Order: sequence, then C-alpha cells, then structure tokens
Amino acid sequence: MLRIAVCVSGGGTNLQAIIDAIRDGRITNAEIVSVISNKPDAYALKRAEENGIKSVCVNRKDYPDKESFYKALMDAVDGAIPDLVVLAGFMVVLPPEMIRKYQRKIINIHPSLIPSFCGDGFYGLKVHEAALARGVKVTGATVHFVDEGTDTGPIIRQKAVDVHEGDTPEILQKRVMEQAEWVIMPEVIDEIANGEINIGMERK
Ligand code: GAR
Repeated sequence: MLRIAVCVSGGGTNLQAIIDAIRDGRITNAEIVSVISNKPDAYALKRAEENGIKSVCVNRKDYPDKESFYKALMDAVDGAIPDLVVLAGFMVVLPPEMIRKYQRKIINIHPSLIPSFCGDGFYGLKVHEAALARGVKVTGATVHFVDEGTDTGPIIRQKAVDVHEGDTPEILQKRVMEQAEWVIMPEVIDEIANGEINIGMERK
C-alpha cells in the first residue's frame, strides 16, 4: 500500500479527485494517510473530515518565524510516514530540507502546460488569466516531481485542454480541472502505487 500525504491550501477538488479515484478503483494499492493544510479555513479540510481521513493544519500565522513554521510542516509530513507526498493546490514554497529528504517522492499538479505560465507568481487563477491574456488556444495541466525550483522538476504527465472563444479565467480553470487535473493526477498516483512509475519505493 502506497501511503500518501496530500498537502492542500484551498478548495481541495484535486484531493477529492484522488479520494474518488481510490473509492472507485481507478487508484489501487494506495491510501491517503494524512491531509496537511496551511490554511485553517481550507474547504479541503472538510473534505478530509467527511471522508474519515486524518488531517492537520500548520498555519504560518501560528509560528514566530519561517524556520519554526518549516519545522512544524516537516514534522506533520514526517509524522504521516508517507511513501509519496502530493501537492494538490498547496500554495507554500517547500522547505529545501523537505525537498532533499523526499527527493522524487513529492509530486505537484500545475494548471498549465509547463514551461508555459509557471514559476514564481503563477498559481491558481493567475495562471489562467495569463494564458487568456497571451491568447493561447491550447493550455492544460502538468504533473511533475518537485525539485528546488518553482515548477522546474521533471515532468511526469501533461494533458492539453482547448481554450474557447469567450472563456473567462474561471471558466477556463474549471475546464482544465475537469478535463486534465482530475484525470492525470489520479492516473499518475495509480501508476506510482503499482510500480509503473518508479519513485524508488520498495514494493510491499
Ligand atoms: C488547482 O488548479 C491546482 O492546479 C492549482 O491550484 C488549484 C487548486 O485547486 N495549483 C497551483 O497553481 C500550484 N502552482 P483545488 O484546491 O481545488 O485542488
């Protein structure tokens, strides 16, 4: 069983997609052992509770400095003893120590076709605003391993999504989630859990 810790900051629709995929068998040999949020009011926490999944909130505001916040975040992740850490709309730059410790064991979903519209300042709705402002006709989503840079880690899977005439950032975001994010993140997790994507985990 692949033990997954899911880090969230907001609505948690990607978390929900993973929960649903485990429930209906599109993800096998995996369980979510912890949901970790940096926002106390994240709706993702409610989704965890409704599905009987343990959750913890590590709020930057509860810590005097970045170092102690980072330590608490690391403790929360370590405490879950995860085989895989999934960043599902987690809007925190990870502690470098955590990236080193979980090398090739942290994956992120980004709502564009990397290397377009990614890096510092490109997150959430801002990504879709930028795509529309540039006038691209195709966008999409990317699942990638997390390294020390922002959205620079090795790409695992991408899926393209058409931009339509008259799209607003909100409409485009919804289409990218439905057609790409909620599809490729569960696919990748299933392939990791079943050894088709190697993250250096011993098969149990
Ligand atoms: C998703 O679109 C995800 O790709 C994006 O934030 C949204 C979170 O939604 N992540 C980033 O922009 C990371 N750079 P969710 O909380 O409903 O899953």
